[in-house]
Amino acid sequence: MSTPADFPVPRTCPFTPPDSYDAMRAAGPLTRVTIPSGKRAWLLTRHTDVRAALADPAASSDARNPDFPALGHGEQQVAAELRPFIRMDPPDHTLVRRMLVGEFTLKRTRALGPVIEQTCHEQLARMLSLTPPVDLVTEYANRVSTTVICHLLGVPTEDLEFFRSITTVTGARSSTAEQVGAALNDLFALINRLVDDKTANPCDDLISRLALGPLERGEITRSSLLSQIGITLNAGHETSRNMIPLAAVALLRHPDQLAKLRDDPGRWPAAVDELLRYLSVADTITLRVATADIELEGATIPAGDAFIPLLGAANHDPAAFADPHVFDIDRPERHHVAFGYGVHQCIGQNLGRLELEIALRVLTDGAPALALTEPFEELPLKDTSAIFGLEQVRVSW
Ligand code: HEM
Repeated sequence: MSTPADFPVPRTCPFTPPDSYDAMRAAGPLTRVTIPSGKRAWLLTRHTDVRAALADPAASSDARNPDFPALGHGEQQVAAELRPFIRMDPPDHTLVRRMLVGEFTLKRTRALGPVIEQTCHEQLARMLSLTPPVDLVTEYANRVSTTVICHLLGVPTEDLEFFRSITTVTGARSSTAEQVGAALNDLFALINRLVDDKTANPCDDLISRLALGPLERGEITRSSLLSQIGITLNAGHETSRNMIPLAAVALLRHPDQLAKLRDDPGRWPAAVDELLRYLSVADTITLRVATADIELEGATIPAGDAFIPLLGAANHDPAAFADPHVFDIDRPERHHVAFGYGVHQCIGQNLGRLELEIALRVLTDGAPALALTEPFEELPLKDTSAIFGLEQVRVSW
């Protein structure tokens, strides 16, 4: 008989990581668990260890390794076939990352500010034209995040709804391998067509620049290019889509903090970082295999073993953050790992931060009486996907 999976652990509070993380951290640096595939993996819960392990050159993200600790059905098969750079190791990873990094500089991201601002105002106006209660996830967050990432990449407006339907399937850990496979086929057909269109008629967007640059120069194959565009679309959309409603609820539940932001909008950047730390929606996405022994403080991850540095556990480690379960926008510590650490640290973090700041500011300023219409305790948690979030957040204003 197979051992039942004891990881991932569901959250009980939408804001903070599972309570058991605190107990694991107190018990020792490494916790052995069984994951849904039946394989074993080590969990890391201490901030110093999580950073050290993620920065270690022996921490492999290569999903082709049979020991890779994928948590979702079909996740490993898809990643091994498509080889998105988030699941590659250097030097292959380095080559792709170099092609993309210029698209995510602070300067280029800031230039997107007016588009994000306009998108948020338009989507809020649309939402406010509906009769409450409405779902903040579908009527605001999802629409903002897809519009912004599609604008950056150059996905035309008429393809937005199609893109949204694909990401609903790819973002759910409960989707079967067949469902994810079919959705990805649709996504790749869309990106493939866009690469052709933009090669013929280039625009000022990421897909055009990659099609005319690295692809034409033969520095990347077409199939790899499609995978890299696909992961950027998905990662950029899925994270913001989950963060915006969850962060909005966190602010509604902490009216004192929201009042500070209303008094002094200059505090928004710090508030966004605190929301990223506090909510840690990408808690379990850093999946790794040790290709050599990895030394931690007082423990070793043996070569060949799978491990998962838990970002939420690190971000709630009392050794790194005073009163870690308290949401405090004036918190002095800024060394959270919500965007990961090491060579895979989130390439889109400038965009993620800016999008969150604008989406939350426009929402809380434009709907000052925004309120949940159902008890907070009954919010449906979205615990089955790679990125944590809320299934639905019904609001009035
Ligand atoms: C706003 C919230 C976001 C969070 C919490 C987040 C979190 C993360 C984390 C933890 C990683 C590291 C994964 C690993 O080490 O295995 C990562 C990587 C990545 N993120 Fe984000 N992300 C966010 C927004 C974005 C946005 C807006 C984009 C795109 C436009 C994006 C694109 C990516 C990509 C492409 C990678 C892979 C980078 C690499 O492997 O070198 N993310 N993200």
